[in-house]
Amino acid sequence: MIDKIIFATSNEHKVQEVKEMLIAIGVKVLSLNDVGLHIDSKETGITFEENSHIKALDISKKTDVPVIADDSGLCIDAFHGFPGAFSARFLEGQSYIEKQKEILNMLEDIDVRDAHFTCAVTYINKAKKIDRTFVSNVPGKIIREFDEEGQKGGFGYDPIFYSIELKKTFGRASEEEKNAVSHRGRAIAEFVKFLKGGE
Ligand code: IMP
Repeated sequence: MIDKIIFATSNEHKVQEVKEMLIAIGVKVLSLNDVGLHIDSKETGITFEENSHIKALDISKKTDVPVIADDSGLCIDAFHGFPGAFSARFLEGQSYIEKQKEILNMLEDIDVRDAHFTCAVTYINKAKKIDRTFVSNVPGKIIREFDEEGQKGGFGYDPIFYSIELKKTFGRASEEEKNAVSHRGRAIAEFVKFLKGGE
């Protein structure tokens, strides 16, 4: 079993989530900051799988340490999955408070609030010639009113995403609660299962 991995992301919230999950099986997660690398490639894919693969491949070209990368986003049923793979680029340059408020405005007269987060995790281990992608979802609903209280936890769209399983928003959930059901938690769990199966 590997003992360390580089997580090809500059999102420290994601690093923190994944660190907690992988330390449990003795795998140390290094961020791009830790190893002084950065992603040069653009997310030119239109699917989560394509974009997580682009990021993992980019970093794996620069190191012999095994790499994971993820691509994730919020998919809203009433908008046919939008913003999806464009979640980070939606209202680019504006804060997540603005982005949350805009989504709530866009859904103002819409009763169908169903949504899910999706996460693709790509694992590349050059030495073992492994290149695998794991994809998972978490079902939820978009809340109706902006939630100030929920801004304290999580990141991104967490405060407006009500988890069916947790019966609260990800913004109000603890990191442990979120990791137990989240799209990223589940994709990483698939990856862990793969590692435990002997890679
Ligand atoms: P990525 O870094 O290209 O994967 O961008 C994903 C974007 O989707 C993030 O910047 C967030 O806007 C959103 N997103 C993905 N996962 C989560 C999550 O767990 N909570 C809240 N927002 C998320």
